[in-house]
Amino acid sequence: MPLRLNTKYLEGFISEDEIKQISPEIVAAAGTLSRADGLGNDFLGWVNLPTNYDREEFARIKSAAQRIKKDDILIVIGIGGSYLGARAVIEAVKSHNYNSLDKDTPDIYFAGNTISSTALNDLIKICENKDFSVNVISKSGTTTEPSLAFRVFKEILENKYGKQGAKSRIYATTDKEKGTLKQLADAEGWETFVVPDNVGGRFSVLTAVGLLPIAVAGIDIDELMRGARFAQENLNDDDLSKNDCYKYAAIRNIMYRKGKKVELLASYEPCFDMMAQWYKQLFGESEGKDGKGLFPCSVIFSTDLHSLGQYIQESGAELLFETVVNSVKPQTDLTLGEVEGNLDGLNFLSGKTMSYVNQKAFEGTVLAHCDGGVANVVLEMPEINEFEIGYFIYFMEKTCAVSGYTLGVNPFNQPGVESYKKNMFALLGKPGFEDRKKELESRIN
Ligand code: PA5
Repeated sequence: MPLRLNTKYLEGFISEDEIKQISPEIVAAAGTLSRADGLGNDFLGWVNLPTNYDREEFARIKSAAQRIKKDDILIVIGIGGSYLGARAVIEAVKSHNYNSLDKDTPDIYFAGNTISSTALNDLIKICENKDFSVNVISKSGTTTEPSLAFRVFKEILENKYGKQGAKSRIYATTDKEKGTLKQLADAEGWETFVVPDNVGGRFSVLTAVGLLPIAVAGIDIDELMRGARFAQENLNDDDLSKNDCYKYAAIRNIMYRKGKKVELLASYEPCFDMMAQWYKQLFGESEGKDGKGLFPCSVIFSTDLHSLGQYIQESGAELLFETVVNSVKPQTDLTLGEVEGNLDGLNFLSGKTMSYVNQKAFEGTVLAHCDGGVANVVLEMPEINEFEIGYFIYFMEKTCAVSGYTLGVNPFNQPGVESYKKNMFALLGKPGFEDRKKELESRIN
């Protein structure tokens, strides 16, 4: 049984009637998506990706992963959609402590997702005296952050292994024909993987962008795709009572129209933290435009109940609603023993598992937050494994597209991302930005 939407805790916040009322808009948005006649329709490659993907490349991903697995470390260089999905799946399925675990797969570090010299120097140190490969990922092939990090790591690889040796340790995932990275890869003879033209960065986790690093971590990518395929085949019913994806898109839009500004994605598993970062990019870049859109945030409970919990409980009602991903069965469990003398006062829990306590924390928190006026949507995930995560990814991608069309935006562009880049280039003195540089500097100095 895959992910299930539980609307029990929406009682008193959203009525079935409200869901019925918005249904025609949701079905219309889903129709726009399936007919591919809406805004951004040249970026719909993700819709059929779980069934329609390049089998030859998929096999090449597996064999490249086998080669990389001989190394101590894989450095994955990319930003935004070019790293979040891979990191999210690796941490969710394996562990957020993946690199510290005893395992027969390489440690995987992510570079090029900041411009911090400290972060980059840390990774350089970590690679000293270790064998490592690099997977550089950039759809455009020109993004500043990964380009800078790659420039540094390429030089380290060439100094360590020589030009020929480095060649067999660099894997480039980029556009099939254009961009600086593609040109460089062709000139140098690196193995390349393709980000399909019609798949945007934040929808690309199930392409080579995500699949190569995920496979290196020893994760079953066939199972991941099977989960996504199951979602692709099962989330098409126009009857919202039979389609959790459309119903969730409806709920999000109703909440937004009721004046909520924030959707807070909560999980009780720390390994889900990066999955929540992936969700934030997916929804933030897709819906946050034209002055519209829910602001996607995330929390890990019970950790954040000791920080943001106070705000959510007593001041959250006006601002936000919560979407809780409740993964019922933990990957591993632990039974609490009996302590002689009951000095910590916890013997009432002896014989109980930590996952049982975590579930009670979830139940208690949902009820408390509802009492505080904060609506809770629950996504029940039976367990965290490849199949369920594949399903979750597709479920969220489709929710995002349908929700975005219902909101009246183009869910597949990200024009706002350019503004900071133009300013940064101007301030750095990039040729062609001279006027902007002058104007910006007059505001800073
Ligand atoms: O979703 C997106 O399109 C963006 O977040 C990109 O993934 C990000 O900007 C990185 O772009 P690129 O892969 O071209 O380096």
